[in-house]
Amino acid sequence: MNVTGFRELFPPLREEGAPIYFDNACMTLRPQSVIDAIQHYYSQNPSCAGRSVHRWGMSISQTVTRTRRKLAEHIGASNAREVIFTPNATHSINQVASGLKWNDGDVVITSDREHNSNLVPWLQQASSGVKLQTVKSQSDNQFDLEAFEEACANAGKSLRVVSLVHVGNLDGVEIPVAKAVKIAHDYDAIVHVDGAQSAPHIPIDVDELGCDLFSFSLHKMLGPTGVGALWGHEEILSQLEPICAGGGTVVNATAEQYSLRSIPDRLEGGLGHYAGICGTEAALDLLGQYNMHDFAEQEVRLNRIMSEGIGHQPGVEIIGPKDAALRGGICSIMLKDLDIQNVGILMDEVGKVFVRSGLHCVNQWFDAHGIEDGSLRASVYAYNTEEEARIFVDTFNEIIDGLTE
Ligand SMILES: Cc1ncc(COP(=O)(O)O)c(C=O)c1O
Repeated sequence: MNVTGFRELFPPLREEGAPIYFDNACMTLRPQSVIDAIQHYYSQNPSCAGRSVHRWGMSISQTVTRTRRKLAEHIGASNAREVIFTPNATHSINQVASGLKWNDGDVVITSDREHNSNLVPWLQQASSGVKLQTVKSQSDNQFDLEAFEEACANAGKSLRVVSLVHVGNLDGVEIPVAKAVKIAHDYDAIVHVDGAQSAPHIPIDVDELGCDLFSFSLHKMLGPTGVGALWGHEEILSQLEPICAGGGTVVNATAEQYSLRSIPDRLEGGLGHYAGICGTEAALDLLGQYNMHDFAEQEVRLNRIMSEGIGHQPGVEIIGPKDAALRGGICSIMLKDLDIQNVGILMDEVGKVFVRSGLHCVNQWFDAHGIEDGSLRASVYAYNTEEEARIFVDTFNEIIDGLTE
């Protein structure tokens, strides 16, 4: 892909002395078209969708409908009504976990590499009788399909939900979703996929994955903050009790009772983030001009440069498989006897390289491995260059050499 041309679209990267932004797993940058779409909403069309029938109202209603369709297309879903706008992936997962009607003893299976957003909402259901079981990954953090199959078999008829991270924000490792779905469906379990780190980086086809529910966040894929999505089969979404009911969700309400609308409205309580939805459309329009395979290839190319460039340092260990191709755009580094936060600050001070240091909301994995301070995570996107990856390597090596002299 033409990285230089793509990169030009992002104002923060055009600035003189722009930082090397390697914190993309947290959130990506936004292109000018997204910023313009948000500005256009507030200055030209500042109204509310699905309610007002004046021309501003009608215009934003059409934008919401179009954007819902484009979101569906981005993940290979055929029915746009099955896409729910949420504030973020965390909200999407909470909607599922808190919206299902549980039976005492229901089992939910996740993995040991889940973001807290795909852990805590299930743990919260313990008071409803839900038992959470966690499948341990292999020693190089790849998904252990055999252990998963065994966990499903042990749960048997009690297995109600399987909820797995598609691509881990800890290490970039992708799991074989389609295979896991086949196994889980043998037990009639509902399969939810946390796609927060996959939808921005690799092609997604929910039909091919075979999952029942899929959550993601737009701020990790060139869009604005405060917009996420939950896709799911109509019959499952329609069973969910809204965690945010009220305006827009009901057909009718009296002082005594209410009746909920069908999806998507029933799960989208209150006025939406319309400026964000306008920005989302612009982000999807841009992503639609590219092949997501090219994004993934570019990111792995950079990850190889980073992984090979720092691998010789003593006390440095990259989380996940040795082969960078199995870690997408994430290079997550553990540092023996060095203060991770300090190294993170120095990366900025010495080389203006922006990385993330800490637990990355995957506390359970670090806890299980007896690591308190987490890792230094460099996460790239398709607008990052090979030169930036080399500067990352030089900066990192200079800092580690300096601290370990
Ligand atoms: C794998 C994964 N799941 C869920 C989330 C939560 O996303 P959000 O903060 O958009 O709700 C993140 C955020 O980093 C993530 O990386």
